[in-house]
Amino acid sequence: MPKTLSFVLICLGISCNSERKQKVEIYSKESFYKQSEMAALMLWMYDVNAANKQLILEGKSPKHFPKDFLKIHTAQLTDSTDRTLSFKAFSDYYIRNMKAVFESSQESLTRRHNTVINSCISCHQTICIGPIPKIKKLLIK
Ligand code: HEC
Repeated sequence: MPKTLSFVLICLGISCNSERKQKVEIYSKESFYKQSEMAALMLWMYDVNAANKQLILEGKSPKHFPKDFLKIHTAQLTDSTDRTLSFKAFSDYYIRNMKAVFESSQESLTRRHNTVINSCISCHQTICIGPIPKIKKLLIK
């Protein structure tokens, strides 16, 4: 499949890209606005990482890796064809980095947290670029 075509297909769901809004006439509103399990999981992961950032800035450490994050491997996507081998590789990479935050010494926390956020961004660069500016806000400067 040509790259541009797969990009367009990938970006049909509501969550990824504001450009999608222009497609609203073509796709039925009902399927367009329905939130997928994956989109809900992503929003939760976003909140947990925002809370982690806050904890780290306060000199505290995040305590418990949320096991439900592993649902990234199974959660239903807006577009099920997104679940490719590279998606799996990015998921594994992200989960590995996420776990490392919860096992980190105090002095490595900022670096490890930023590694997590960069692994969110890496996957998003390949699959849905829309939320990247929002995700970047999770980085600790
Ligand atoms: C393995 C790839 C991958 C990784 C890693 C990943 N994402 Fe996503 N993200 C996606 C996909 C795909 C979607 C679209 C989900 C859908 O529509 O079903 C998405 C959607 C989102 C959305 C939009 C949700 C909405 O409906 O508004 C946000 C925000 C988001 N991700 C944040 C994050 C954050 C924060 C991280 C890291 C903590 C992260 N993502 C890691 C692939 C990924």
